[in-house]
Amino acid sequence: MKINVFDTYEQMSAYAAQVIKEEINKKKNLNLGLATGSTPEGMYENLVEFFENDELDFSSVTTFNLDEYCGLTPSHSQSYHYFMDEHLLSKVNVKKENINIPEGDEEKHEDICKAYDKKISQAGGIDLQVLGIGVNGHIGFNEPGDIFVADTHLIDLTDTTIEQNSRFFSNGEEVPKKAITMGIRPIINANKVVLMANGPSKAHAIKISLEGPITPQVPASILQLHEDLIVILDKEAAAELESI
Ligand code: GLP
Repeated sequence: MKINVFDTYEQMSAYAAQVIKEEINKKKNLNLGLATGSTPEGMYENLVEFFENDELDFSSVTTFNLDEYCGLTPSHSQSYHYFMDEHLLSKVNVKKENINIPEGDEEKHEDICKAYDKKISQAGGIDLQVLGIGVNGHIGFNEPGDIFVADTHLIDLTDTTIEQNSRFFSNGEEVPKKAITMGIRPIINANKVVLMANGPSKAHAIKISLEGPITPQVPASILQLHEDLIVILDKEAAAELESI
């Protein structure tokens, strides 16, 4: 694993965008795994800027998002469909048919999950996966639990996650209680993984994920096994690390 620590959020965002740009420039038809949350917003701004300056072409890129809440329509301002459109997908030249985000429909979850895994494997897997991290060490919506779940699945969000994400909703009651998330297999099988975190609230999650035991109680800890993991942190998120 390679850990990169930056003084500011702007610097880490620029670096993450640069890594993605290089991968797309190396492989035009990159299968790009994308994350939502406040962490990658700055990275997306940089990617849009690269596109606007004709430095980046998304026309052959295929995107696979990690997750979606159940019960929010794609037009809901807090849905991950909406987030991706707002921050990247409507602003660059990714082809609509190359955009993949799981549908947050609890009733049809079995079909949705199977189809999503099939789509990822038929595409040849993820080339580059971008990840944020929850304060409890979750990646995508792979929440702490007794096992690592390999496939795309329906998940009950933990109280910690509901509470953390309530900042995006007018009250805690509105936060969806379930989500559909990509499982651990496509993430760990990705050729390259970029893990991003900023701010003091992520310092402990980063510490236990990168320097603690590998356990499903800390889903991001599985990333220690990945051979090409690039960790991109600001100094606050890196504060508890001993190995740097
Ligand atoms: C959400 C998403 C994750 C994200 C995490 C952290 O729950 N499902 O993919 O990494 O929260 O979000 P933020 O970057 O806003 O702290």
